[in-house]
Amino acid sequence: MTNSVKKFVAPEHVAIIMDGNGRWAKRRYLPRVFGHKQGVKTVKSIVKAADSLGIKVLTLYAFSTENWKRPQDEIDALFNLLLVFLKKEFDELNEKGVKLRILGDILKFPQNVQNEIKKVCKASSENCGLQLNIALNYGSRQEILRAYENMRKEGVENPTEEQFSSFLYTQGQPDPDLLIRTSGEMRLSNFMLWQMAYGEIYITDKFWPDFTKEDLKKAVEEYNKRDRRFGGI
Ligand code: FPP
Repeated sequence: MTNSVKKFVAPEHVAIIMDGNGRWAKRRYLPRVFGHKQGVKTVKSIVKAADSLGIKVLTLYAFSTENWKRPQDEIDALFNLLLVFLKKEFDELNEKGVKLRILGDILKFPQNVQNEIKKVCKASSENCGLQLNIALNYGSRQEILRAYENMRKEGVENPTEEQFSSFLYTQGQPDPDLLIRTSGEMRLSNFMLWQMAYGEIYITDKFWPDFTKEDLKKAVEEYNKRDRRFGGI
């Protein structure tokens, strides 16, 4: 069968490093926050597009453990945007059956943001549609150390890979099949280091605010051309 007639297979899990908000704004002589604001619009459209394409799990890297180094007003603006997204935008996604999980340690977040996150996670917990993971105050090395610490507390010794995976934030979910990074950078940036052992990587030069549902489809089509051997031949 040639590639042109091969059946289109949606990756089960797509993870995205949403990069380039700041540069998008800079190009327009706008403050960085405008890039993040536009980035939230992209988030909403890409969640819906992922669902339509048959993707089961979508993970978005929204705030890393390193992002605390940013100016406080940018951090506050990101919290605000997240709050607005959860309060105003998530309803429509909830109706579509989207289920929210947070990857990361949100205890350092403002109390009102934590409350809203918990509320939305609870309200969507019975949903059966797309699983949306938002990585917040997430760092993969921190996640691995946390897993190690929790395993130690539970007396788990010599864990299998499956056991170890069950102590990660993504427990019970398949590993990403495809990782997309926008804005041309070619780094994992402390994102899903364990889970990405065999994941395919797709880099686009587009900045996150410019990333469209057609771009997502293009990435999935490219994924369909990859020959995944998982170390075999
Ligand atoms: C990277 O661009 C983007 C971020 C660190 C934040 C991503 C956040 C959002 C898209 C908005 C909030 C998310 C949700 C889920 C509501 P950058 O600022 O590092 O861009 P640059 O590399 O061009 O400076």
